[in-house]
Amino acid sequence: MRAPQLLVLFGSQTGTAEDQAERLRREARRRRMGCRVQALDAYAVADLIKEPLVIFVCATTGQGDPPDNMKNFWRFIFRKSLPSTSLCQMDFAVLGLGDSSYANLPSKFTFQFLQEAPSTGTEGPSIASTVPQGPPSESQPFLAPVVTNQRVTGSQHFQDVRLIEFDITDSSISFAAGDVVLILPSNSEAHIQKFCHVLGLDPDQFFLLQSREPGVPCPPGLPQPSSVKHLVSQYLDITSVPRRSFFELLACLSPHGLEREKLLEFSSAQGQEELWEYCNRPRRTILEVLCDFPHTACAIPPDYLLDLIPQIRPRAFSIASSLLAHPTRLQILVAVVQYQTRLKEPRRGLCSSWLASLDPGQAQPVRVPLWVRPGGLVFPETPDTPVIMVGPGTGVAPFRAAIQERVAQGQTGNFLFFGCRKRDQDFYWQTEWQELEKRGYLTLVTAFSREQEQKVYVQHRLQELGPLVWELLDRRGAHFYLAGNAKYMPTDVEEALTSVFQEEGQLSNADAAAYLARLQRTLRFQTETWA
Ligand code: 2AM
Repeated sequence: MRAPQLLVLFGSQTGTAEDQAERLRREARRRRMGCRVQALDAYAVADLIKEPLVIFVCATTGQGDPPDNMKNFWRFIFRKSLPSTSLCQMDFAVLGLGDSSYANLPSKFTFQFLQEAPSTGTEGPSIASTVPQGPPSESQPFLAPVVTNQRVTGSQHFQDVRLIEFDITDSSISFAAGDVVLILPSNSEAHIQKFCHVLGLDPDQFFLLQSREPGVPCPPGLPQPSSVKHLVSQYLDITSVPRRSFFELLACLSPHGLEREKLLEFSSAQGQEELWEYCNRPRRTILEVLCDFPHTACAIPPDYLLDLIPQIRPRAFSIASSLLAHPTRLQILVAVVQYQTRLKEPRRGLCSSWLASLDPGQAQPVRVPLWVRPGGLVFPETPDTPVIMVGPGTGVAPFRAAIQERVAQGQTGNFLFFGCRKRDQDFYWQTEWQELEKRGYLTLVTAFSREQEQKVYVQHRLQELGPLVWELLDRRGAHFYLAGNAKYMPTDVEEALTSVFQEEGQLSNADAAAYLARLQRTLRFQTETWA
């Protein structure tokens, strides 16, 4: 008996199903069977009633959707008018190509896109329009207008440092010296547009977000409905450096053979060195990675956005002003983070760059979501206790708040050690300090590191003034505070201090260390440092 003609029909998105179909053809030929292979939509589907033997080889794409070259066929077989008896003569088999990762991959949220924008055309009940209950918090930040954005470093200085001032009138925000403000930054307009473009998202489309699992709440403060633009701008940290899990999930979502292969390599144990070189070392961002994998990026189902991309985290800044001096204001000192790696585009800190870009003179100034929390520094309530404050660079910020607060309360005994590179470049609040010195409220000790051959730092001044420092701490019960860059400065200052204890207090090495430890235990030595 002659073997029947075999027909192999495939639905393939990236070529795997087509490849399987070709393997079947070769197998059939080896068995001397006639065999035709065709993409499902290239086949005249009405001819199926004449076929004795058919194998369907079908893949899925995206989230279980039919591949592009079988979409018509898929619609056809769901037709109500399809006669149920017409294909009963046909022997057939279906070979489904699955992906073991799909089953394990439910997204945390579902997006329900709205056909039309809400009647007002804006976000739903949002953090802006609800009546605040209690002081502002992460779930209900205060949207503060920026009233000052001023560069406070000279044009010769390597770093752009800004004094940023917020209007907090009617915010019910309250704080004391040493507290910190948390700020939720936004992505830049250019980055939002680029992200929406590579993912094929319409920034102006509105959606409702629903959590799939009871234990997983929607992001705090997200308006319902929200626009895609709002979500990208305020929630998705697209300029952070992606983690390995990002590549794992992206590989699972990728419909593109070559890109998927590369993504799988980056997620594998063997691929970690290459991933480090590609991503971590040059500080490549999520947005840049997505641009490198365009076929994958444009196929990401929106439901997975919040699984894939971490949420923007608030940044903490030491508050640099006191409510006693500026009752409706909150000031911070921000060093704008920018550096170069081997990538052409400079790396920029999200929050500092965003703050530096805000224009207080705009008719409708951008409002900054913020709230405050107690910081690590607590200043003495007893009016006669002197305070020694060591704050080089932006480390001086919390001491500006403390000095303003103490001066407003008539407290003297304020000793500030401030260090910067040059007095005409990065000497923050120079005239304010000089004024307070004249009025007898402040003793200022400066260390200008780059005005002479040898570096002079605050710890050198501490040692020079060893007798005064010892007298203040040991005789007058002073509190000692240290704030600023965490790299070497804190250890260097601690070492200088212990050598003062040895020198002036005639203490052994061990006793000097114990003296410092006792100050720390009794909260008379406090630090606030940042990277
Ligand atoms: P430099 O940049 O000239 O080295 C504020 O940043 C000031 O702190 C600058 O004058 C800086 O000096 C100085 N600085 C840098 N490293 C320091 C350290 N380990 N201890 C104290 N001050 C330091």
